Amino acid sequence: MITFDNVTKKYKGMSVPALDRVSFTVDAGAICGVVGLSGAGKSTLIRCMTGLERVDSGTISIGGVSISALTGAELRQAQRNLGVVFQHFNLLSQRTALQNVMFPLEVAGVARNEARDRARELLDIVGLGDKLNSYPSKLSGGQQQRVGIARALATSPKVLLCDEFTSALDPINSKSILELIMRLNADLGVTVLIVTHQLSIAEQSCDRLIVIDEGQIVENGPAKDVLESPKSRILRAMVTTLTWS
Ligand SMILES: Nc1ncnc2c1ncn2[C@@H]1O[C@H](COP(=O)(O)OP(=O)(O)OP(=O)(O)O)[C@@H](O)[C@H]1O
Ligand SMILES: [Mg+2]
Repeated sequence: MITFDNVTKKYKGMSVPALDRVSFTVDAGAICGVVGLSGAGKSTLIRCMTGLERVDSGTISIGGVSISALTGAELRQAQRNLGVVFQHFNLLSQRTALQNVMFPLEVAGVARNEARDRARELLDIVGLGDKLNSYPSKLSGGQQQRVGIARALATSPKVLLCDEFTSALDPINSKSILELIMRLNADLGVTVLIVTHQLSIAEQSCDRLIVIDEGQIVENGPAKDVLESPKSRILRAMVTTLTWS
């Protein structure tokens, strides 16, 4: 479903690449975690998947479509197969919860009535059926992230990308948002890529786990195995320090 084949990305002015010959695959319907320290290249990996950053070499394909090779209208079409959940929610403050979820549908040219029905349905699924007309400032962080998740799912993407999506939340809200993502994965069959500093999130939810260090993949395997016997310097350090919390 998701395939990275020898992907390298170097930002201008940087001496080392942010992604260095990265190759991995994630099966359709799986939840895959990506962990690593700050600056390891995790967000770059996500931005390259969305086409926000262009790769220097290698290919990224999603559902058989080589997204790294596309531009313009073709890229925008392919991007509808990707839902992105952000750390700081990134909701539009002048729009209600319902209007925020309708937004990607409007951009995709979906008729207003249809977009409204779909947005209502999604807000119901994420447990916010009673907050349709609330503005983001009137919602808690956990509720805002639920809106963010509903919005990410609006165009029925095959893949959900979550970059540090619980970092701005307290542990109770983090847990319930993670459970929501796991339920959506089970119910909708959406493939999920979770970028996180927190090993506990990977342990609870991920089928696979990738560890990235200075742009290179240093571990990749079933999450349980990787966490039980960490081989890389970086994961050993993470396991023995505070990144469980
Ligand atoms: N737009 C940019 N221009 C130049 N360098 C960048 C840019 N974005 C990221 N970098 C560099 O690329 C490397 C990887 O950054 P990235 O944001 O992918 O790390 P990360 O693993 O997401 O870190 P964090 O856990 O702090 O979010 C870092 O050295 C960073 O300084
Ligand atoms: Mg990041």
